[in-house]
Amino acid sequence: MSTSIPVGLAGLGRFVPERRLTNHDLEKMVDTSDEWIVQRTGIRERRIAGEGQVTSTLAIEAAKSALAEARMAPEDLDLILCATVTGDQPFPATACRVGLDLGAKNAGGFDIAAACSGFVFTSQVAARFIQSGQFRNVLVIGAEILSRILDYKDRNTCVLFGDGAGAALYTSLERAGRGEFLGGSISMEGGSEGILAQPGGGSRYPASNRTVAEGLHYMKMGGTKVFRFAVRVFAELVQKVLDQYGRDQIGLIVPHQVNQRIIEAAMEQVGLPMDLVFSNIDRYGNTSAASVPIALTEARDAGRLQKGKLIVMPAFGAGMAWGHLLLRW
Ligand code: COA
Repeated sequence: MSTSIPVGLAGLGRFVPERRLTNHDLEKMVDTSDEWIVQRTGIRERRIAGEGQVTSTLAIEAAKSALAEARMAPEDLDLILCATVTGDQPFPATACRVGLDLGAKNAGGFDIAAACSGFVFTSQVAARFIQSGQFRNVLVIGAEILSRILDYKDRNTCVLFGDGAGAALYTSLERAGRGEFLGGSISMEGGSEGILAQPGGGSRYPASNRTVAEGLHYMKMGGTKVFRFAVRVFAELVQKVLDQYGRDQIGLIVPHQVNQRIIEAAMEQVGLPMDLVFSNIDRYGNTSAASVPIALTEARDAGRLQKGKLIVMPAFGAGMAWGHLLLRW
């Protein structure tokens, strides 16, 4: 295809459940302390989905806000892409439920499972569909209910993660008028099943009494290895943009909200000040695929996105998989 239609970002939305789980609440559940969690991660509280909520419930609310900002109706959507590793069920795709409940009668859709890199990867897929002319209006949603796969007896994982959803509606730059898609990257290095994974429920360990008894449906993580990996690739991704565009072009870095110490270590490595970063990890913890679009929406609401400047969004996580998304506001 020879066409290349410039792509822009017409609408953003976020939705988080009401219930807050604070570090002090966690102190009553596992052997931990508010001081330990704040010092090691920067997290103070995270949101937890209510009993009646499933991942599509959060995704739909975020999607409605993005549609409203873009002044589009659900019928205008051509494609719905849902980035999640905690969908409503293993299949069908959560995107199908989102499309039905939104009333997006003209849209196709599917899910992309890339864990914490999900939104950043999926946004690139969306942009390429628009550039090629195949679709005009593509909704990308990052949505997770990680609390349903966390073991609240495992202090190594349960303090780190939370639930939420964020959405971005991409269309032609001409129609959006801002948020120009400039590109990004997608990388992976397999073999991390023992480092960061939900082992049970797939073809390796199909659900059985044994997998339940051994807790294989919960998230498992080797924190230190993930920490080192995250700092290295975060710094490399930002350096790549610095080399290509220069320091003055960068308006804001909106990284995957992984851990305040990882963010600080990576920024130190590339020699950039922390005021160039947007972080809301203290309030939501790590919401995997939802973290970048929630942070981007909040950065926009806080007036942190500067006209004409770059927004750099590095992400990394299970796979291991990492990459970045680059927009000009
Ligand atoms: N409260 C109290 N102690 C805890 C704890 C908690 N919530 N979680 C772990 N610990 C303990 C461990 O059991 C271990 O104890 P031990 O030394 O007696 O075995 C000790 O703290 C580990 O300490 P340390 O190695 O200094 O921790 P750390 O500085 O590496 O921090 C993480 C631990 C998990 C916060 C950190 O490694 C991390 O953030 N890793 C990345 C994880 C991540 O973000 N994953 C998602 C990627 S998308």
